[in-house]
Amino acid sequence: MQGLTLIGSGWHPSLFRSEIKALTGPIEVIHPRVLYIPLTDSTLTRLSRAALLDDVLCLSARYWVYSETSQEDLTKTIAEWAQLNLPKGSFAVRARKLGTGIPGFSRSEIESEVGALITSDSNHVNLDDPENVISVVIAGPGDGPIHRDDIGQNSPIVTWGLQQPGWQRDSYAGRAPTDRPFFQPVSLDPKQAKLLISLAHRRGTETNTIVDPFCGTGGIAIEAALQGMEALASDLDPRMVEGTLQNLEWAGVSARAEAREASDIVSLWGSRNNCAFVFDPPYGRSSWKSGDGLEVLLSALTAAREMNSQGTVCTMLPTGPEALNSFPEQDIDVMGIPWSELEVMIRGCGWEPVLSTPVKVHRSLARMVVVCHPAG
Ligand SMILES: C[S@@+](CC[C@H](N)C(=O)[O-])C[C@H]1O[C@@H](n2cnc3c(N)ncnc32)[C@H](O)[C@@H]1O
Repeated sequence: MQGLTLIGSGWHPSLFRSEIKALTGPIEVIHPRVLYIPLTDSTLTRLSRAALLDDVLCLSARYWVYSETSQEDLTKTIAEWAQLNLPKGSFAVRARKLGTGIPGFSRSEIESEVGALITSDSNHVNLDDPENVISVVIAGPGDGPIHRDDIGQNSPIVTWGLQQPGWQRDSYAGRAPTDRPFFQPVSLDPKQAKLLISLAHRRGTETNTIVDPFCGTGGIAIEAALQGMEALASDLDPRMVEGTLQNLEWAGVSARAEAREASDIVSLWGSRNNCAFVFDPPYGRSSWKSGDGLEVLLSALTAAREMNSQGTVCTMLPTGPEALNSFPEQDIDVMGIPWSELEVMIRGCGWEPVLSTPVKVHRSLARMVVVCHPAG
């Protein structure tokens, strides 16, 4: 079966792999930031939901680099591949390094050498507006990732292919929370909102509605609606609901938003199939009028299970920066209590945590991304 090679962002390789798995199913890991997946009719639509996907290559090939491999061997191999795979018309070769790259392999030299080898009557170089782009990825060892990764150092590999026609990496241009008419310091940035939505997908279930019971300024509802999903947003604070509606209008999308306590989402929206619960719960000062953040979280989880017993939860919970360096066996605090205790409480609400991965927010703040499926 034909497949696609995917190149992930360096911000969080492990969450890149998790989101591609959630969106498309099984993956082959070629490098922490390079995956190979089968191509089916729905693959490209599903990939358009990914937050941490940089590039998509089709008709790809790969080349493991050993100490005796030279750059010349590589460029000749790419040129032979192009004879079979490059359509007629103009082309550009664009090479990039991942991590520290591979010693002895130069991006610019590969671009010009491959370009010179391929140029012919039917294929000429056009760097400004090429009909086809040959993308070459020189993937070396990681460059000290911000986030811990369970995949250790990898063997160096070069992979290349045609840039998938129509694929464009999401630049998030013009979508910064500070650009919106209603901004609050709690606003989630669009990349994180999109990531939480993609992680909430699950193979074998169709998710077409996103429910955010703590919508704040509406970051999650905006990203869901931009993807054509139905978004059901609510917040205890009517000022936040008003602001969410303003922000949705500004983003040119529509979604429903109501003022309601998170534990009341079943009476607000009714039972639903095919919905996922994606939220960033209150903590510290944002747990407005609602007492303890932990209680609020647990009551929202219980209500979510009642609203859709087959749904998925994807959330981000406050944790300390030590979570970024800890080992899996360390029981770090999440929402102020040891993770092992919180896991038991989450199970008590009918959910099974299937993923818990820390992400860095800034120097002194981290969040634990937690995905839960219905407990058996
Ligand atoms: C961390 S903020 C969410 C930020 C949001 N993701 C955004 O992008 O703006 C948490 C929100 O939960 C709301 N909240 C606090 N207690 C609540 C409760 N018991 N039920 C519903 N919403 C609540 C707060 O008003 C606040 O807007």
